[in-house]
Amino acid sequence: MEFIPNFAVFEGGDGSGTTTQLSILAERFKNTPKPVFFRTFEPTNEKTGLLIRSALKNEIKLRAETLCFLFAADRNEHLYGTNGIITHTKRNELVVSDRYTLSSLVYQGIECGDELPQALNSCFPAPELTIFFDIVPEIALERIKNRSSHEIYENLNFQKKAREKYMDLLKNYDKAGGKVEIINSSGHVQEVADKVWSIISQMPILKNSENIF
Ligand code: TYD
Repeated sequence: MEFIPNFAVFEGGDGSGTTTQLSILAERFKNTPKPVFFRTFEPTNEKTGLLIRSALKNEIKLRAETLCFLFAADRNEHLYGTNGIITHTKRNELVVSDRYTLSSLVYQGIECGDELPQALNSCFPAPELTIFFDIVPEIALERIKNRSSHEIYENLNFQKKAREKYMDLLKNYDKAGGKVEIINSSGHVQEVADKVWSIISQMPILKNSENIF
């Protein structure tokens, strides 16, 4: 199966640190002379993504299947739409997204069974690299318990199921074409960031370019 070169994805349970780690990674590219790095995330900040976010905050009530369709619709625009992932990877930029198809296979898989998320996501190409941030859900939830707003999946029972499902799916995920790396993210933030960099810096787009670092 095809994968998208120059495209990496951070995946993990809630509180696993994907967003923090993506911020640290983005800092490294802050002063590069031309755009070489594009940071992005799902659900997006476009209209569909915002609708998803209000459902995640329980402001509106949607059926699990509806949410699954919305995530896929949001992803289709994120990938192929104006200024989307493909546009940037084709310009030879490194694109890193906070979440992608695996989040749907795991989260919506738990909520509405595997069939629908698999059907809706099997047409999306895999990223070149997926980094999974692995952490015990108890620690992850402790880290985010003081956030000002909470989302529907942030409970121990769900996060335990999600971790198991991620592990299960990751076993076969590299067969889809992309590479998979699992990082233990319960350590110190900088320690985890160093591990991330040791993996990301081996991507061909960075390894082969002398002009950046
Ligand atoms: P998260 O990535 O933790 O971002 P933030 O810190 O901004 O809240 O939140 C996104 C939530 O959406 C997370 O609980 C996972 C969920 N999600 C899905 O259920 N399916 C998906 O396809 C995606 C992309 C996210």
